[in-house]
Amino acid sequence: MDGNGRWAKQQGLLRVIGHENGTKSVREVVEASAEIGIKHLTLYAFSTENWNRPKIEVQTLMKLLVKSLKKEIKTLQDNDIKLNAIGCLDDLPKKAKEELQEVIEKTKNNNRMILTLALSYGSRDELINMVKKISDKVKNNIISTESIDESIINKHLYTQNLPDVDLLIRTSGEQRISNFLLWQIAYAELYFTHILWPDFKKSDLYTALIDYQNRERRFGKTSEQLS
Ligand code: IPE
Ligand code: MG
Repeated sequence: MDGNGRWAKQQGLLRVIGHENGTKSVREVVEASAEIGIKHLTLYAFSTENWNRPKIEVQTLMKLLVKSLKKEIKTLQDNDIKLNAIGCLDDLPKKAKEELQEVIEKTKNNNRMILTLALSYGSRDELINMVKKISDKVKNNIISTESIDESIINKHLYTQNLPDVDLLIRTSGEQRISNFLLWQIAYAELYFTHILWPDFKKSDLYTALIDYQNRERRFGKTSEQLS
């Protein structure tokens, strides 16, 4: 979800107004995804690198997170959506962590869609953690080096309960991944749009999905093998 700051700047507004308007897009995309039957939606809300932003902006984003969780619990319940979070959640301010845990707990029996918020998330951080956890298990003879395979790696990532990414959408015109789900996007379809996140609405999600539907996912095979 990129482009909140530029969206605000274009209108001579403060960045925080961009972030506030970005939360409206979050609601639209979450609702639209659930409505059309998407099972998993993962939103990159705050990266490990975002901690390096000016303190005031970080504080504002954390406050906005708490406010949105309080406000949107109803949207989640009404739409039968289960909240999940990935990232180094211990880095979050106490209030944000508590609110997050509360909404996760309250929505744990919902099952139409799993909404995952990536918070203080960095793919490299996740991979380092995975290596540490697996190394410990090898050291303690819980698993053998020979048995390490994709499935074992998957089980030691923050995304252990999530499938691989099918479609990755990045808004605002930037064409980079920025440390997001590097392992999990091995075969994802990438979609870049110039639309700034606060302008990204339901119809823009549908446009991205139609584009995705017209792609041929070969997973290394030939086109003939697929048909
Ligand atoms: C994305 O918008 C929101 C977060 C990273 C939290 P930006 O804040 O990155 O907006 P730009 O890139 O400055 O336009
Ligand atoms: Mg940005």
